[in-house]
Amino acid sequence: MNLREVRELIGPTRPRASRLQRCNSIGELRALARRRLPRPVFDYVEGGADEELSLERNVAAFRRWQFSPQAPRDVSAVDASASLLGRRLALPLVCSPTGYTRMMHPLGELAVAGAAARAGIPYVLSTVASSSIEEVAQGGHPDLWFQLYVWRDRGLTRDLVDRAWREGYRVLEVSVDTHVAGNRVRDIRNGLAIPPRLTARTLGEIALRPAYWAGVVRSPPIRFANSPPATAGRGGITIENMTTLFDPTLGWDDIGSIRGQWPGALIVKGPLGADLAREAIARGADGLHLSNHGGRQLDRVIPPVDTLAEVREAVGDRPAIVVDSGIRSGADLAVALALGADAGAIGRAYLYGLMAGGEAGVDRALAIIAGEFTRTMQLLGVASVAELRAAGAAVLRAGAAADPSPRSGRAR
Ligand SMILES: Cc1cc2nc3c(=O)[nH]c(=O)nc-3n(C[C@H](O)[C@H](O)[C@H](O)COP(=O)(O)O)c2cc1C
Repeated sequence: MNLREVRELIGPTRPRASRLQRCNSIGELRALARRRLPRPVFDYVEGGADEELSLERNVAAFRRWQFSPQAPRDVSAVDASASLLGRRLALPLVCSPTGYTRMMHPLGELAVAGAAARAGIPYVLSTVASSSIEEVAQGGHPDLWFQLYVWRDRGLTRDLVDRAWREGYRVLEVSVDTHVAGNRVRDIRNGLAIPPRLTARTLGEIALRPAYWAGVVRSPPIRFANSPPATAGRGGITIENMTTLFDPTLGWDDIGSIRGQWPGALIVKGPLGADLAREAIARGADGLHLSNHGGRQLDRVIPPVDTLAEVREAVGDRPAIVVDSGIRSGADLAVALALGADAGAIGRAYLYGLMAGGEAGVDRALAIIAGEFTRTMQLLGVASVAELRAAGAAVLRAGAAADPSPRSGRAR
């Protein structure tokens, strides 16, 4: 089934465009998403591991920075575009990989990739996506990246890498933070299952959120689209058994051998700190994606943005550095760039848009962040991303403590 056919099937579940246009921040998209989605699905996106300390601290780590404007400067013409791994992006932003995205909306990964293409930024497809490498490639996004989880079955791993290259994916991101699954307490409490199971509780949810369920019923079943069902025994891969198929022995030598197999740009997703960053580059990586998986794996782990300055100093100017985990606004993105990142990346911020309004909702999320980022640059007195990078510490002052307003990882 292609994108047009799915769109035709689920068209009636789209919210009125005016509702999306009334959302003026990622926090407002989140609130709309929360009203539209069943609790277990919303919590799957929203939640973190264990006590959710990483999740809270990720958001707080961006918000503790205060701006120190360079005005007066001529900012009548401002250029928010940036270079990343040899490509020009309309905005220094990447849509991070998120698994099972069709659970959030029937168009799932196809909708996010489409919106990212329109916004002129890369989209990273997850190994555990619910749309296949080939389906997403057919959408024609010119800057697709593929995120790799290394399976115990190395033949399957090699096959995924070959498929991604064959289909024109430009960058391979290898995640190194998922040797075992994080302890997602909300999902356990909610009894989240993929594919969804029909229980008394699900039936109750259907009564409360009929539009969501109508979309699920009208579209093809949600599945792990890139993994042959045989890999997990007779039941196929489920959310419970999936991470047991990842290789817990994954080490630096494996990064070296993946480097040998992948002809394109290679990024390691998840190293935090100068030593690990240096090691990744020594093993042949072209860049680093500083990430703690949005606080969904190790709890109490250092916020990636707090490692940016030391990592940039350790690896120098050449390797690309992308940072995620906690970006909820264009101001957060400006902080990331001023601290030395080439680009920021987002997971939940676009998923809130997707849940609030499908593809148009992702468009809205990206437009909100682009508008905030551009305005922040102008008010800071920098006319281009290069100027923002060059100004660096001059436009930032560390605040005392985290901003008191948002509880946990929630957006404004
Ligand atoms: C629902 C959800 C699913 C995710 N799935 C994956 C995945 O399959 N692979 C991966 O490397 N990271 C995954 N991540 C982590 C994101 O790529 C990204 O690092 C994180 O969302 C960034 O934090 P933020 O949500 O605060 O922006 C997922 C995140 C979320 C919220």
